[in-house]
Amino acid sequence: MEFLSNNPLLITDTILRDAHQSQAATRMTTKEMLPALEILDSIGYYSLECWGGATFDACMRFLNEDPWERLRKLKKGLPHTKLQMLFRGQNILGYKHYADDVVDLFCRKSIENGIDIIRIFDALNDVRNLEQAIKSTKKYGGQVEATLSYTISPIHDETYFVKLAKELEQMGADTICIKDMANLLLPMDAYSLVKALKETVSVPIHLHTHNTSGTGDMTLLMAAFAGVDIVDTALSPLANGTSQPATESLVATLQGTARDTGLDLGKMSDAAAHFRKVAQRLKDDGILDPKVLNVDTNTLLYQVPGGMLSNLISQLKQAGKEDKYYDVLAEIPRVRKDFGYPPLVTPTSQIVGTQAVMNVIMDERYKVFPKESKAVLRGEYGALPGEVNPEVRAKAGIAAEDVITCRPADLLEPELEKYRQEFKDIAKSDEDVLSLALFPQVAPKFLEHRDQLAKAATPAAPATSDGVRSISVVCDENVMKNL
Ligand code: CO
Repeated sequence: MEFLSNNPLLITDTILRDAHQSQAATRMTTKEMLPALEILDSIGYYSLECWGGATFDACMRFLNEDPWERLRKLKKGLPHTKLQMLFRGQNILGYKHYADDVVDLFCRKSIENGIDIIRIFDALNDVRNLEQAIKSTKKYGGQVEATLSYTISPIHDETYFVKLAKELEQMGADTICIKDMANLLLPMDAYSLVKALKETVSVPIHLHTHNTSGTGDMTLLMAAFAGVDIVDTALSPLANGTSQPATESLVATLQGTARDTGLDLGKMSDAAAHFRKVAQRLKDDGILDPKVLNVDTNTLLYQVPGGMLSNLISQLKQAGKEDKYYDVLAEIPRVRKDFGYPPLVTPTSQIVGTQAVMNVIMDERYKVFPKESKAVLRGEYGALPGEVNPEVRAKAGIAAEDVITCRPADLLEPELEKYRQEFKDIAKSDEDVLSLALFPQVAPKFLEHRDQLAKAATPAAPATSDGVRSISVVCDENVMKNL
């Protein structure tokens, strides 16, 4: 088999973000990262993914850390490597749509504090939800990685994604990411999709997948054959299972080929020695459950992300209906079809999952609609990829003429001054205002604690998790693993 490209394959390592988000609920601390930065910085990665996704929330909620301070420390320790973050379009890192001025300030502050590349995605692939973040990232000198949220459905075929990629390129994307959050992109399909994208768009293609169903390494290799420019992998101590395939394995596989990464396995071995200790600490604390390392073929059967499955189990346990697990699994594709085939990624994965649970445990489909379901059906998250079942929408009390067809953020007035006023007593900076605007339940407590500590200048006590989960709560950290 021949490589369709002769360029060295570039590697983004996710050890500082998605690896521990996917395996250990995003609990690696900044202190655990710092000793490895010098060696990581010398490896020659294309970039290190280290911020965004759930790191921001987890820093304040569980680790008593200021996420902005983490970013500044990482930037200082990694002067030669580009820092990359994950950004949820008009949702930023939160769970609702923010006005354009908030999106703009968040992009500006991320770049000012050290981010080089912003991977911007929208759960519905509604490009209007990416517009402002793309514009602002470019305005402040950042690199835009616009994203295809990959999924499989009668709507989502190769033609769909190639057309979407073309559109993102025209909107100013510097690179395009195939974001296979659920590990649905099988090796042969990856080959075909990457080949088609390389023939259609001229910006580099970056592939993000997971190894939940055990196909991740093969998917990356086939993508490398098809000419993918950059792939995401994780250093071995936190690789595989629900995380990314291991960096070292892919680097070794390509040595001596046309796509040799040129990266030094010896240096990676030094970095891995450090992160093995971190992984052990996470296991000792019961945060990293070795179960997440197993191959989970349910993902292949049901096309449901691994993190979403564990969330379903916890919702059903709460309702005392664990015996309904397989009924819910069967209901998810039906709800997804009724809702116009949204890709299952935060926040749509939680919304579709919760609706499916409700439909099963109430013994009547669509007896109850959580408010997030109604919002999706009303178009508040953007245009759904396919047709919505009109009967389901009517049952939710939404008339066809009530569905939003404009860019949802066009309905929002500027919000920044309102937030600045609201938080003027607790925010010490624009960064604090953004933390408060995105996580109003978590940030006030954290900031108060931080400022008290600064006054007392005593070391921080470790945060304790409250562990509270609710069926209607969208921001379940378990599900955020799907990112
Ligand atoms: Co991911």
